[in-house]
Amino acid sequence: MNEEDLEQFDTSRLVEPEQTDGEETIEITLRPERLADFVGQKAIKEPLSISIAASQARGEPMEHILLYGNPGLGKTTLAHIIAREMGVNIKLTSGPALEKVGDLAAILSNLSRGDVLFIDEIHRMNKTIEEVLYSAMEDFALDIIVGKGPAARTLRIPLEKFTLIGATTKLNLLSGPLRDRFGHVYHLSFYEPDEMAHIVARNAALLTAELHDEAKRVIATRARSTPRVANRLLRRVRDFAQVKNNGLITIDVANEALTMLSIDQFGLDSVDRKILRALIENFSGGPVGLNTLSAAIAEDMETVETVYEPYLLQIGMLERTPRGRKATSKAYQHIGKSGVGLV
Ligand SMILES: Nc1ncnc2c1ncn2[C@@H]1O[C@H](COP(=O)(O)OP(=O)(O)OP(=O)(O)O)[C@@H](O)[C@H]1O
Ligand SMILES: [Mg+2]
Repeated sequence: MNEEDLEQFDTSRLVEPEQTDGEETIEITLRPERLADFVGQKAIKEPLSISIAASQARGEPMEHILLYGNPGLGKTTLAHIIAREMGVNIKLTSGPALEKVGDLAAILSNLSRGDVLFIDEIHRMNKTIEEVLYSAMEDFALDIIVGKGPAARTLRIPLEKFTLIGATTKLNLLSGPLRDRFGHVYHLSFYEPDEMAHIVARNAALLTAELHDEAKRVIATRARSTPRVANRLLRRVRDFAQVKNNGLITIDVANEALTMLSIDQFGLDSVDRKILRALIENFSGGPVGLNTLSAAIAEDMETVETVYEPYLLQIGMLERTPRGRKATSKAYQHIGKSGVGLV
C-alpha cells in the first residue's frame, strides 16, 4: 500500500445497517440476537460458545472466524450475535464494496480493540486488498510504502487487535493463504424439519401472526430448509391470511397461498421446475454443463449455481457429475407429476 492509497481513505465503504427497505427491516426484526435464540447449527454453536467464553475470561478478542454456507442460512445473523455476545462493536462491509486498498485501511485503522469487522462475500475481494488484509489479520498492522524509487521505505502502522468475521457462499474461491489465517472455520448446513418449524413458530410470534400448528409444518417443509425462505413465505402467507381469512393462518390458507406463489410440496418454485424440466426435456436428463443449462432457461449461471442448485442437490433431484448436471429419477417422478396446476 502506498501514500496515495492512504489519501483515499473513505469510510463510506462501510455498509450502514439502517439503509434498508421495509422487507429488510422485517428481516432484521426477525434476526435472533443471542446465541441461545439462534436455532439449530449445533455443530457450530457449541464450539463457538466455548471460544466466546474462553476469550472473554482471558479478556482477549476472539480469533478470526470464517462462516461459509448457502445464502440465507444465517451467516450475517451469526456475525451480529458473536459481536453482541462478546460485547463489542461490529463494522460491516463486503468484498465488492472494498474497491481500493485505502478503503480497507480506513476501516481497519478506525477499529477499537476487540471490535468485529464483518466482511460479507469475502471471496469477492480483490487480490491487492487481500494481501493488505494478511498482515492486518496476522500482525495487526498495516504496511505502507512511503516515497518512491530508491528512497522508498516501509512504514508499519499498528492496529488495534480486532476479530475479522468473513462470510462466503463459495469457500472454494477463497485463496489458501486467506483461509489459513482464520482460527475458526464453520460451515452452516441446511436446517432440519424440526428446526425449520421452530423458526417459523418463533417468527410468527414475533410478527404477531396467528398460526395453526399444521400450517406451521406446511410452511416449514416448503421453505427449502432455509430460514430466510421461511421468513419470506411466512410474510406472504400472513398477507394472504389477512386479506382472505381475518389474519388466521390455517393449513388451508397456507396451502392456498403457497399454491398461488407456485411453490410445490418440495418447496420448489417455478425456476426450480424450469431447471428440472429443461434437463429432462431438452437434454434427455443430462449430463449437461451448467452454462448450457442456464442459457436454456435464460437465467444467470451464478444464480442457478448458488441459489437453485444447492437445494436441488440436497433433496436429491439433481446430481453433479464430472460431465455436468443430471436429473435423478426423483426429478423425473416429480416433474411427471407436477401437472398439478403449477408451472
Ligand atoms: N439459526 C437461525 N435461527 C433463527 N433465524 C435464523 C437463523 N438463521 C437465519 N435466520 C433468519 O434468516 C434470515 C437470513 O439470515 P442471514 O441474513 O443471516 O443469512 P446469510 O447466511 O447471511 O445469507 P447471505 O449469504 O444471503 O448473506 C435472518 O434475518 C434470520 O431472521
Ligand atoms: Mg448475509
